[in-house]
Amino acid sequence: MSEMTTIVIFGASGDLTRRKLIPAFFDLYLKERLPANWRIVGVSRSPHSDDEFRDKMKLGVKEFARFAFDAEQWAAFAAHVSYHAGNLTNEDEMRALDQALLAHEGEEVANRMYYLSIAPRLYESALANLGCTGMVDESGGWRRVVIEKPFGHDLPSAKLLNHAVHRVLDESQIYRIDHYLGKETVQNIMVFRFANSLFEPVWNRNYIDHVQITAAETVDVGHRADYYDGVGVVRDMMQNHMLQLLALVAAEPPASFEADALRNEKVKVLRAVRKMEPEEVARNSVRGQYRAYRDAEGVAPYSETATYAAIRFFIDNWRWQGVPFYLRSGKAMAKKFTEITIFFKEPPHVMFPLPANATIARNSLSICIQPDEGIHFSFQAKVPDTAARMRTVNMAFQYETAFGPTAIPEAYERLLLDIIKGDASLFSRGDSIELAWSLIDPILEGWNSDHTTSMAFFYEAGSWGPVEADRLLARDGAKWTSGCQVDDS
Ligand code: BG6
Repeated sequence: MSEMTTIVIFGASGDLTRRKLIPAFFDLYLKERLPANWRIVGVSRSPHSDDEFRDKMKLGVKEFARFAFDAEQWAAFAAHVSYHAGNLTNEDEMRALDQALLAHEGEEVANRMYYLSIAPRLYESALANLGCTGMVDESGGWRRVVIEKPFGHDLPSAKLLNHAVHRVLDESQIYRIDHYLGKETVQNIMVFRFANSLFEPVWNRNYIDHVQITAAETVDVGHRADYYDGVGVVRDMMQNHMLQLLALVAAEPPASFEADALRNEKVKVLRAVRKMEPEEVARNSVRGQYRAYRDAEGVAPYSETATYAAIRFFIDNWRWQGVPFYLRSGKAMAKKFTEITIFFKEPPHVMFPLPANATIARNSLSICIQPDEGIHFSFQAKVPDTAARMRTVNMAFQYETAFGPTAIPEAYERLLLDIIKGDASLFSRGDSIELAWSLIDPILEGWNSDHTTSMAFFYEAGSWGPVEADRLLARDGAKWTSGCQVDDS
């Protein structure tokens, strides 16, 4: 049976298409992973010819694709790419697009992926138009709709959006992208935990002291104030990427390798995360803003938007009761890295002579999400030629050494391919998004309530954020520590 797949990118003149989507499709094409008969149609309002659109995409591919640019390969790829000017909030223009797509299809089976790379305020009308024009009807082939984050800006808006989705689509047709889930190192968390028998027995409150999850960025708000101001780090990074990381670290082993088995376990974790009351927020979180933020183009002069946050979460279940999960993320920080570090408990009894007030550093296991992807285990070793002096040393697995320097694909490559295959494992389900908002909303409310001071904690750009974030951990006898940025010398 002949089959074709059309990939329709709405918002094709935007940055995401040029920087991520087309380069990822190009890399997939070079790896011969795309289906036999495929086509990409870029759609946005601005008038462009096919060639103008292709030229713009070519620049993106030259800059952002992983593989070296080859003009011949690009020409072969670009022959599958075309452009259609149209407004997806206008029903008639959507019908015209549908007719144009049908004119090309004519196969027995014609599948379509609709990628909504558009402003979130347009999601609802886009979905409604896809529905009323019959464009998501699956009688002639599959129809899958991809939505970028942010999925809502709080729980009520996320519920409304889920409602709008379910009015026209079955849950199996919707792919809510969280690009962190497409990262190779994030996918490896499940393999590391459940394809090895060493760590699972100690992966619980009996052996683990606490968990730190850091997503630090050196970039500042740049030209994104339009989107970022009023949104801030908690909605931008924590509600989605970081809570997903927490869920992957804390989930119970799924019974099978099916999309819903894993997604069910992640939902169970999010359900067990303790919700904060507004009066508990100040004790469990710190927010900050880097000093020059309010001077950035497009930022409100007295903006209270947090560009840094550190939050302490607890998970109320048997495995994790009493184990703090500290999450921190910030813009304009000293270094860009994302890592998860699991700190194990100290030995119950130390027989070695230690200097007064000294303790033994805890063993830690760090999952280095990026850069320098890998896993590090740090433990104590006796310093040679001393009686019993100890030092923390490091055992490391690095992707680059184990699999080669170009082994790690871009997150979007994997995610786009999974959509084509119909595998939703790495996509957020509606219920988990709502649960994440239900954890985040009280924190944002707490910050706006009388229980916390206003934006008290400014930090210098290029620093590690406000010192109050250090105190958050110090109270529990912990300290922000990166296990991936170690120097063994
Ligand atoms: C995006 C956020 O989702 O993730 C950005 O909107 C952030 O603000 C980015 O910079 C970080 O992604 P990565 O893959 O560079 O860690």
